[in-house]
Amino acid sequence: MNEKKEVGEKAVEYVKDGMVVGLGTGSTVFYSIAKLGQLVQQGLSIQGVPTSEQTAKLAREFGIPLVSFKEIEGIDVAIDGADEVNPDLNLIKGGGGALLREKIIAKAARTFIVVADSHKYVDTLGAFPLPIEVVPFGYEMTMKHIRELGGSPNLRQTNGTPYLSDNGNYVVDCDFIEIKDPIALERELNIIPGVVENGLFVDMTDAVITLDSNKNLITK
Ligand code: 5RP
Repeated sequence: MNEKKEVGEKAVEYVKDGMVVGLGTGSTVFYSIAKLGQLVQQGLSIQGVPTSEQTAKLAREFGIPLVSFKEIEGIDVAIDGADEVNPDLNLIKGGGGALLREKIIAKAARTFIVVADSHKYVDTLGAFPLPIEVVPFGYEMTMKHIRELGGSPNLRQTNGTPYLSDNGNYVVDCDFIEIKDPIALERELNIIPGVVENGLFVDMTDAVITLDSNKNLITK
């Protein structure tokens, strides 16, 4: 059984004809996008707002029409994955480096749906290193300030070269071990000069589609 496919396809039930849909990034929401593509071929009329260049390319391949923020008033529903989900449905996101656009789109959405296989559930956020998008200028100082908040930041790199987000920024993966107060940490990180955004999504999730211990699809 492919859990990612099950939860990804289930989320598409939230999408109705005529909606503007935020399209997340990652291997779980891939299945939502593929399913939406099928439905569009069968006559569903939607407009997609992609959270990354990778998703924009995928959506085009699946024949989903895309729109920019200039052309819309808001987003009806956004579907996206997560790296960790806690019992309050707060999230760590950004494993794929798309956290900034993902958060902008989640905030713009009237309904934000998360698709998460059963391995994404944790009691306390933080085992997954928190992705933080930082501007390249002075990033060493920015990392120092992040360290002062108790984290161990590592610059994300590919073959020794800093990873660049779609926005031209660096991403720092920061080990906090346990994030006991995600609300406070989200705020404290974002007031550090040089931090563009962090991957804590607090009080944003309307529903999580996942599987229970018997591998039945459930919505939390
Ligand atoms: C990308 C993300 C993804 O949603 C997150 O990493 C989960 O990905 P996957 O569905 O591949 O496990 O935040 O920036």
